Amino acid sequence: MVINQLYGFAARREASAKLVNQVAREISKLRPLWINHPLNLQIDTQNYCNLKCAYCNVREGSAMNLPRGTMPMETIQRILEYWRGTPMWCVAPFSNGEPLLETRLPEINDMIQKTVGCMSVIDTNGSIYANRELLIHPNMRLVRFTVSAATRETYNKTMGVDLFPDVLSTVEWFKNNRYRQQKMMIQFVSNKHNEHEIDDWVKLFSDYNLRISGLHRNPLFQEASENALGEKLTNPAERVILIDAEGKTSFEKLKPNYPCSCWDIQSFGCDGSITQCVKFPYSFNYGNVVDTDLRKAWDERNRNAMNNPCCRGCNTRSPDSVSILKKWGGGHVQ
Ligand SMILES: C[S@@+](CC[C@H](N)C(=O)[O-])C[C@H]1O[C@@H](n2cnc3c(N)ncnc32)[C@H](O)[C@@H]1O
Ligand code: SF4
Ligand code: SF4
Repeated sequence: MVINQLYGFAARREASAKLVNQVAREISKLRPLWINHPLNLQIDTQNYCNLKCAYCNVREGSAMNLPRGTMPMETIQRILEYWRGTPMWCVAPFSNGEPLLETRLPEINDMIQKTVGCMSVIDTNGSIYANRELLIHPNMRLVRFTVSAATRETYNKTMGVDLFPDVLSTVEWFKNNRYRQQKMMIQFVSNKHNEHEIDDWVKLFSDYNLRISGLHRNPLFQEASENALGEKLTNPAERVILIDAEGKTSFEKLKPNYPCSCWDIQSFGCDGSITQCVKFPYSFNYGNVVDTDLRKAWDERNRNAMNNPCCRGCNTRSPDSVSILKKWGGGHVQ
């Protein structure tokens, strides 16, 4: 409990965050922080999108075939109220859609700030310039723009829509109009359509913090992977590259005692289903937020460990996932 309070404190007070984070990280090697409760929430407040990224597992028309919809405000409130006062790193009010289509975003961010009390974070494709004001909120501390191309031609091939100039305008506008505490990042999902222009992309966005990632793959998403499979960035330890605005490069590492990168996140489909992780079909779930105790659902997920068709073949698992889950997760590890 003390560890979690420390963790929550670090997330909220940025000045001391680095040091406290380091201490919490060291302590978490002894007992994982995700055992007690989730440390992040991801909520599909809606899951519509205006793009058709070749690599996206959840794009409309993909084999995953997610039911599309909008979560009622009362359901969002219910999730946030449940975890009121629990130390959390962040809430991501999106998962499988485009947040610039979520016109309630400022209201949702207010709710996050008032109930759970932690920061919020989003990924956006940035292509709906007309809705750019939705990105401005003092509690939305990180906005990551996914721009997986350096040219208009490759953008069209990779993201499926001719909106590259609009994206550049939104990025530029956000840089100049955000609150000071709102950090931003540009990210690139590497695949066969775009990997030839990674170097140009790094030059184009050299003023920003950058994140380059390999494809997330598992057997349920065969179609999107085959459609966009690239050769680079397949080594698990080097799958995600970070480059800061000074040009310094590093790799995003898994936290100690984590069986995969999403393990501390509780995620919700727009129909209220409590899913295994953000990368999952809603049909595999631990009940619905309307009538399920969220802590029980969390414990059940930990007990189930990775005993399901999606996790078994997931390429973002830690090489140590089996031993970590055997030690901490219970259940039947596969
Ligand atoms: C599902 S999107 C939703 C947010 C927003 N529409 C966007 O594209 O930024 C969340 C993040 O997952 C990334 N993503 C989608 N499919 C992926 C895949 N197969 N491998 C790795 N990242 C993927 C997106 O590029 C984006 O950065
Ligand atoms: S913009 Fe995001 S959600 Fe939409 S298709 Fe692309 S990766 Fe998927
Ligand atoms: S291993 Fe399972 S829970 Fe972890 S990222 Fe992959 S699909 Fe999600």
